[in-house]
Amino acid sequence: MVIAIDGPSGSGKSSTAKGVARRLGLAFLDTGSMYRACAWQAAEDGVSDAADLVALARAADLQVGTDPDDARVRMNGTDVTEAIRLPQISAEVSKVAVVPEVRGELVRRQREIVADTLAGGRGIVLEGRDTTTVVTPEADVRVLLVADPDARVARRHAELGEVVDVAAVSDQVIRRDRDDSTVAAFTEAADGVVVVDSTELTLEQVVDAVVALAGK
Ligand code: CDP
Repeated sequence: MVIAIDGPSGSGKSSTAKGVARRLGLAFLDTGSMYRACAWQAAEDGVSDAADLVALARAADLQVGTDPDDARVRMNGTDVTEAIRLPQISAEVSKVAVVPEVRGELVRRQREIVADTLAGGRGIVLEGRDTTTVVTPEADVRVLLVADPDARVARRHAELGEVVDVAAVSDQVIRRDRDDSTVAAFTEAADGVVVVDSTELTLEQVVDAVVALAGK
């Protein structure tokens, strides 16, 4: 069983994917964490040229946990699980993600993780921007999770805590929609991808909807 969930920033895809993985006893892969880890390494090394980013991605010792309750990320020996969520990484990650050869390298690694997990007798839920269309278009269930921009901003704000101004969060979410528009615009779903609008739903209800699509 492979379940792929894509969506924009703040659509709730990470929480949904983890919830579905827990419910069905599947592994979990946050593909965005791999782009974030590369952005973290690029910031550490002070590089931003496309050629340097590609070399960095290809050479990376990148380890991504697939346990929905403990998906730690290690980049070249450093645990970056928390660091990759910092606002400066969120602001820079799209610049890394738009480089086609970086995407090619990370997609290759993502497919390898899926194949290894399936070979071990376990299914997987993966989430990101292009998992339904590029990484695993053959997935058993493919979902595009959308929500109104106001709802997405409110969720991101709640996640980041009151210390961050809601207007600043709004700027970040809207800016990333724009920066990622070449990666995936989400104006319409690809063939065979089911749109789930989470604007009016609780997390539990969204998880229920995806589990129902999986026929469970
Ligand atoms: O914070 P949010 O949940 O929106 O994003 P994320 O899933 O952590 O992904 C961070 C960034 O990585 C996105 O804004 C994209 O630039 C990039 N990404 C991508 O290009 N393709 C993916 N499959 C996943 C993420």
